[in-house]
Amino acid sequence: MNRQERTNVRITTHLLQATPKNITKAAQILRSGGNVAFPTETVYGLGACVFNDGAVRRIFVAKGRPSDNPLIVHCAEKYDVERVADISRLSPQQQALFHALYTEFCPGALTFILPKQAPVPDSVTAGLDTVAVRFPKHPVAAQLIREAGEPLVAPSANRSGYPSPTTAAHVMHDLEGRIEAVLDGGACELGIESTVVNILTNPLHILRPGSITKEDLERIAGQFELKVRVEASNEAALKAEKQKTAPRSPGMKYRHYAPKARVILVPTENEAFQQAQTIPASRIFAYTAYPQNTSIYQLSEQNLYAELRQADNDGLDAVIILVDDALRANAGLMNRLSKAAEGGSPPHT
Ligand code: TXA
Ligand code: MG
Repeated sequence: MNRQERTNVRITTHLLQATPKNITKAAQILRSGGNVAFPTETVYGLGACVFNDGAVRRIFVAKGRPSDNPLIVHCAEKYDVERVADISRLSPQQQALFHALYTEFCPGALTFILPKQAPVPDSVTAGLDTVAVRFPKHPVAAQLIREAGEPLVAPSANRSGYPSPTTAAHVMHDLEGRIEAVLDGGACELGIESTVVNILTNPLHILRPGSITKEDLERIAGQFELKVRVEASNEAALKAEKQKTAPRSPGMKYRHYAPKARVILVPTENEAFQQAQTIPASRIFAYTAYPQNTSIYQLSEQNLYAELRQADNDGLDAVIILVDDALRANAGLMNRLSKAAEGGSPPHT
């Protein structure tokens, strides 16, 4: 049976501690066309060698991910970017900007949209002529990429639509029996996915907010007299892009980051308690700490996905999130919460 046929069959998923020996073993699995999940500083990623079209396609099957949602390519060294992105197609100003952003934020939680190199398979970019590239800071991720011998594509290692994984146990819960191995490197430091920025446009577009903020990017872009804008939705941006290049592509409306429990965003403490009264199997979270009130749990970037998953494990019907000014100011968290919540938009007060 070849790998393509195996995708519908349960396979043995090896859970490996991220020791040097096991990183070497995981790199071998990747080189032979397998899929291995690994820790990054943001969330766990599900890796495949970027130039192995079959291995890349199996990622979409394992995750249940629509094939029109492109993947991020992960590089260990700056010069590796040339293998997947055609930097020569950037203007001199864009090249200088790329280098300045790289120097400031990489390795780290920043993903660049760049012109694609021809040999990158269409399965990676969903047929776009751009490619997303990031340089993870996590030493296990960097070492795995080096030993794999080529950059690795890695979407978050969750079942599509479910909250991203921030521990190896989350990955096993979602993907055991569907991928060859998981490297366990403990809990992820940041907890939400990288900031995605398109540096090919003026203003630059933030397609997905994250821990590197608009203000962070503006500090560097400003040196080139460029502005930065937050694009309302990456799906809308991708759809517009696809209409230019692949008019027959299907729609791009996905549900994201959502547990089975409803995620309800409320603007006041009072409303939070009212909701909790009508939905007894629920839990209230706030970004601001409420040390005196034990019925309000604290929410952070680091625990968001774990808590959404825990809500399902505990059989809750709802997670109620108190959206105060401090939370509203956190674009990365608000983006994930709005998408996880029904209706898809934050409450306005
Ligand atoms: O922190 C992260 O970025 C994690 C870790 C594993 O590195 N990865 C991750 O990958 O979040 P994924 O596949 O879950 O999200 C990739 C995002 C999607 O929103 C996708 O639409 C966008 O990047 N993307 C990828 N290629 C793109 C492109 N060429 N143009 C616009 N958006 C792109
Ligand atoms: Mg994802």
